[in-house]
Amino acid sequence: MEVKPDPCGVVIFGASGDLTHRKLVPALFEQFQRRLLPETFFILGCARSELDDQVFRDSFRQYLLSREVTAGAAEEFLKHVYYLSGSYEDNALYKRLSERLTELSEQEWTAGNCLYYLATPPSLYTTIVSGLGLAGLTSQESGRWARVVVEKPFGHDLASSRKLDSALHQWLSEEQIYRIDHYLGKETVQNIFILRFANAIFEPIWNRRYIDHVQITVAETLGVENRAGYYEQAGALRDMFQNHMLEMLSLVAMEPPATFEADRHRDEKVKLLRSIRPFSDNGLGDWLVRGQYAAGAAQEQPLPAYRQEKGVNAESQTETYVAMKVMVDNWRWQGVPFYLRSGKRLAKQVSEIAITFKSVPHSMFGKIAPERLQPNVLTLKIQPEEGIALTMEAKRPGPRMCMSSLTLNFSYRDAFGERSSNAYERLLLDCMVGDQTLFVRHDGAELAWTVLEPVINNWQTSVDNCPLEFYEAGGDGPQGADRLLTNDGRRWRPL
Ligand SMILES: NC(=O)c1ccc[n+]([C@@H]2O[C@H](COP(=O)([O-])OP(=O)(O)OC[C@H]3O[C@@H](n4cnc5c(N)ncnc54)[C@H](OP(=O)(O)O)[C@@H]3O)[C@@H](O)[C@H]2O)c1
Repeated sequence: MEVKPDPCGVVIFGASGDLTHRKLVPALFEQFQRRLLPETFFILGCARSELDDQVFRDSFRQYLLSREVTAGAAEEFLKHVYYLSGSYEDNALYKRLSERLTELSEQEWTAGNCLYYLATPPSLYTTIVSGLGLAGLTSQESGRWARVVVEKPFGHDLASSRKLDSALHQWLSEEQIYRIDHYLGKETVQNIFILRFANAIFEPIWNRRYIDHVQITVAETLGVENRAGYYEQAGALRDMFQNHMLEMLSLVAMEPPATFEADRHRDEKVKLLRSIRPFSDNGLGDWLVRGQYAAGAAQEQPLPAYRQEKGVNAESQTETYVAMKVMVDNWRWQGVPFYLRSGKRLAKQVSEIAITFKSVPHSMFGKIAPERLQPNVLTLKIQPEEGIALTMEAKRPGPRMCMSSLTLNFSYRDAFGERSSNAYERLLLDCMVGDQTLFVRHDGAELAWTVLEPVINNWQTSVDNCPLEFYEAGGDGPQGADRLLTNDGRRWRPL
């Protein structure tokens, strides 16, 4: 990124919480270390917990010092960190916030620019934004800017997402709203775009003539951990598909925008979401599988069932796994299935997009039938490995015509040496420079809910169509997910 961000303050609501401690402040610190933050800045944490500046700074000190930095560098950063406590529902909080911001803006020379980060439970988003609005903190007078970062989930379904949007738009223009999906900040996800549109060789074959199908996988080994309160309400469909999975599908399948401008890019993603064939109640089970992990084991250690996890209802119907087949009804993709799967407590942690090309139409190699020649697979590896792999057939050395599949591998780490930056580091800087390219626009969020709405409604009203299947913790997921592909004569890539 070349543009230096404007001086600004970052106000984090929910600052006593997990996201602030694990992701946000560490990301800001990394950027501070790399001298990518604005020349002048401050961070003001805001939450109900009664802390003061010192206690709040102390809560980060240990982490900062674990980053192989000098105590001096950590203190230099922490000098700019402040805290304000209060209740989000209380208008007095926003009055005190306004006074504190005026003070800090003068003291730290930030020209009144402010980034508000909503790192609270989503039920508080509208309360906080209207508190900010009533206190005049969302206005952008005299050249200063005010931007609000909204964490996922953006609503719970189509109706609640529309309601959230209209509440946000009461005080903010769309240009002030940054709906964050941290997957879009990952280097490897951004690289999908570069791979497709900065290399001439892919675009001519990136279509139904050459591509057989696409698999998008986000598998986690972790269970629900300490997020049962949230996850019981959300489940895998809302937690992963409304955002990360459909975003990745859009990036793989969208048309090239004319320029890399935020709205041109987001226009194309929206067009793609509009082309997704709607799910219907009829035969939904042929298109979707939902699962929940039962007890199992990993590395010879027993793992509890989801229903035995702390905070989970013993008869919970919440899905911890979803696999779906998606068809994109447009000229480029007609007839090419996109298989998406994501689940918790699976055998391996892996996020990848695998594009399987069609087999050769004819085999000239004697007895070797064309279908015995392995199709080329281009795999975009998102995590934990970051890179690209392409499998191809090659002749094995020797007098006979024997073939093997081999893989060309590109690894980010080997090629570029340095660690790739954390998604939040990139996205926070984008907010500061006012670049919305990697953020979700209101119509994109709404369309993603529109795609999933028939599924959500069906699952609420009928269990017969797409029953919850149990799978062993530490395994590959429910058997029904395999059927989704074997019915089409295909198989999932091994995890
Ligand atoms: N953690 C992650 O890795 C992650 C990843 C993606 C998205 N998100 C999203 O980011 C947001 C924050 O996540 P988080 O994990 O940091 O949440 P969290 O730790 O559960 O909550 C953040 C803070 O909000 C306040 N809070 C919690 N429950 C509250 C309630 N019922 N009423 C009023 N205040 C309450 C608490 O501060 P006080 O009690 O001091 O006010 C808490 O420290 C959520 O919307 C989450 O969905 C989180």
